[in-house]
Amino acid sequence: MKILVVGSGGREDTLCWKLKKEKNQIVCASGNGGTARWGENINIRPTDIEKLSDFVKENGIELTVVGPEAPLVEGIVNRFEEKSFRIFGPSKEAAQLEASKVFAKEFMRKNGIPTAGFEIFNSEEKALKYILNKKFPIVIKADGLCGGKGVSICENLKAAQEAIYSLMTKKIFGRQGERIVIEDCLFGEEVSYLAFVDGEDFLPLVSSQDHKAIFDEDKGPNTGGMGAYSPVSLMTEELSERIKKDILKKTINGLLNLRIRFKGILYLGLMLTEDGPMVLEFNVRFGDPEAQAIIPRLTSNLLELMMEAIDGNLSKVRLEWDKRPVLSVVLASAGYPENPVSGKEIFGLEETECLNDILVFHSGTEKKDGRFWTKGGRVLSVTGYGNDIKEAKTRVYSAIFNVQFEGMQFRNDIGEKEIRRIKDGELSIL
Ligand code: AMP
Ligand code: GLY
Repeated sequence: MKILVVGSGGREDTLCWKLKKEKNQIVCASGNGGTARWGENINIRPTDIEKLSDFVKENGIELTVVGPEAPLVEGIVNRFEEKSFRIFGPSKEAAQLEASKVFAKEFMRKNGIPTAGFEIFNSEEKALKYILNKKFPIVIKADGLCGGKGVSICENLKAAQEAIYSLMTKKIFGRQGERIVIEDCLFGEEVSYLAFVDGEDFLPLVSSQDHKAIFDEDKGPNTGGMGAYSPVSLMTEELSERIKKDILKKTINGLLNLRIRFKGILYLGLMLTEDGPMVLEFNVRFGDPEAQAIIPRLTSNLLELMMEAIDGNLSKVRLEWDKRPVLSVVLASAGYPENPVSGKEIFGLEETECLNDILVFHSGTEKKDGRFWTKGGRVLSVTGYGNDIKEAKTRVYSAIFNVQFEGMQFRNDIGEKEIRRIKDGELSIL
């Protein structure tokens, strides 16, 4: 099948890799230096919906797969469906779950979905008054999309006042911070729980865990994600059943009550608290770098799954997984996440790619004159399989020794907490 993958990150490179392995013809818009390995890159921005639609028509594309949230929020699925083009992803209405934290929180409250207690404000004065009587830490979130930077965990009153001031007076995220959510801080382990959804039925994927902070031991500012692994031993069969019943089912039914049929990947960002799993956020797409840890474990046919989700047939499908854990470490540019430096030559890719049980996915890279160069914050995700998580970790970190570019930074502790947990006697299940 001729497939257009929309996006240009490590997640999209991973989707292209898998779909190519399944013998499809791949075009990626706009792609990166890595996606060109699996097909053709075209120079159309992911949010240029009309140009993408023209391309699909003129080039006989049979399926479009959307990676990032921005085109979904802007209505690429609605537009393509109007034209009867096949597309994998949720509609603009469904994408509200990610695009607006106010929508997501009110939706959860209405549908009895466990999440942190919260209040919504569109007045700075009222927000500042509200925090005077709160226990710290508290969490302050901009309503709209802020590239993962719209959330502040405030340890004291002064930090909370500054966060409110930045969002509502300084407007550092423009209109995205016109409304804010102030919520209670939750404590526990974070897990990413993703599922295929076909409007009514769902199929959960294997569990994974992201590492959001830039430095080891979760220190420093948050990033898009510095590494991930799958599975997470905390995700027992029992916990997964509870998430399906208390969160996934309620979310899909709540959307149906709003006459919204969610089709695509629903991503629950969960905190496993003492009181059970609670939703930190919804995303309406694969995670990045979670996709790099999950998709290499999928032995079922991804294209078929996407088609069954579009056609509302997921109840007929079973997922098959490689039992081996996968771990993926992001190599980032100097200055990431604040001011990443681009344009550095990348060395050692070929030697790394040909190692056993290692995959190298590209994010911010480009190929010029037969050589690879950095282009953006997150550059590569070095990914590996192991018979256990420890072996996967050792394999990936020894593979990273081969790769080099000026200023390259990465975390040394991806999967470390999981290794410690397993040593303490817990078992990986899902
Ligand atoms: P979000 O975009 O809402 O997922 O927030 C980004 C990150 O902030 C999450 O991955 C958590 O690490 C953290 N976070 C968000 N909400 C809370 C909360 N209520 N309690 C503790 N941490 C939170
Ligand atoms: N890894 C977090 C995200 O994709 O939003």
